[in-house]
Amino acid sequence: MSTRALDAATVEELVSAAAAAPSIHNSQPWRFRFRPDTSTLEVRADRSRAVPAADPQGRALHISVGAAVLNLRVAARHLGWAPEVRLLPDPAEPDLLAALRLDTPATAQALGTERLYEAIWRRHSIRTPFADTPVPPAVLDELVEAAHAEDAALHLPDHAETARLLHLTAEAERRNVTDEAQRTESRGWIRTGEVPPVGIPVGALGPQDAAGHLPMRDFSAIHAAEHRAPALFEREPRIAVLTTEHDTPADWLRAGLALEHVLLAATVHGVRASLLHQAMEWPYLRWEARDPHQRPGYVQILIRLGYGPEGAATPRLPVGEVLDPS
Ligand SMILES: Cc1cc2nc3c(=O)[nH]c(=O)nc-3n(C[C@H](O)[C@H](O)[C@H](O)COP(=O)(O)O)c2cc1C
Repeated sequence: MSTRALDAATVEELVSAAAAAPSIHNSQPWRFRFRPDTSTLEVRADRSRAVPAADPQGRALHISVGAAVLNLRVAARHLGWAPEVRLLPDPAEPDLLAALRLDTPATAQALGTERLYEAIWRRHSIRTPFADTPVPPAVLDELVEAAHAEDAALHLPDHAETARLLHLTAEAERRNVTDEAQRTESRGWIRTGEVPPVGIPVGALGPQDAAGHLPMRDFSAIHAAEHRAPALFEREPRIAVLTTEHDTPADWLRAGLALEHVLLAATVHGVRASLLHQAMEWPYLRWEARDPHQRPGYVQILIRLGYGPEGAATPRLPVGEVLDPS
């Protein structure tokens, strides 16, 4: 690790780390611009790649961009900077979602930076069945801490609460595949044949659960021929619930930072993850997903954790297509 001047190559390095973040349907709804006069990297929403049927409020867009901001922070620290991160820095420009000031070299390496940085490139969504091996409590504690560090909370529901959440997700999944706008939209982000650098290649999808317990998103809802044969998933899925105290755009961004911090920390421990967002896409189901036994809060996403293959990277837009000239 060494501090370098923020030349064009360094900015590109930061942006490619940001773009490795997860985003809903791999929509990559972000743009970046570096301001040399203030040494600030600006992060904007790119609404031309929004997913309005699944995400009419832009909540999932903010989570996706928040995840990219977490990667930027980790990559900046890896390069020897002490970045100052501001969320929604300009009320007059709501699509300016974050600004990172990069003019202060780090005096000491933030704990765990290198391991998190390496995990940026190894983290992938894994939609295949996991082993029945439980994730150890010490690792789960670390993931809870990772969410907490970003002003969000990660809850680990017990068996009954997990069953209830998966039931709500199954209900949402049924609605998603029967709702014309939703199923056309999600089908439209699936890529077969030649792979353009947005959307999800069909090879990254998984099977449906033969036992019907784990309602994985059925992206290929329309084309039955593209379905993989159903398979048996883990018997006791480990679901984690990411919540925030409030539900403003700043909270959605914080949820994104927390999501990516949790996913990178899981990757460090060889724990894989997939995301179950379906119940968040129907307001009454998202509301019901709140656990009355927890402190009041807003559920932002469900994370499924476990042990499985490392998986492969899905394509990303080239840096030049998401980085605006200074
Ligand atoms: C807000 C959000 C919601 C997502 N919802 C789902 C989901 O419901 N089902 C799913 O399989 N993947 C979901 N994903 C994962 C994306 O599809 C995935 O991040 C994207 O395809 C890029 O692939 P990667 O995570 O392997 O880099 C979601 C991601 C985000 C950020």
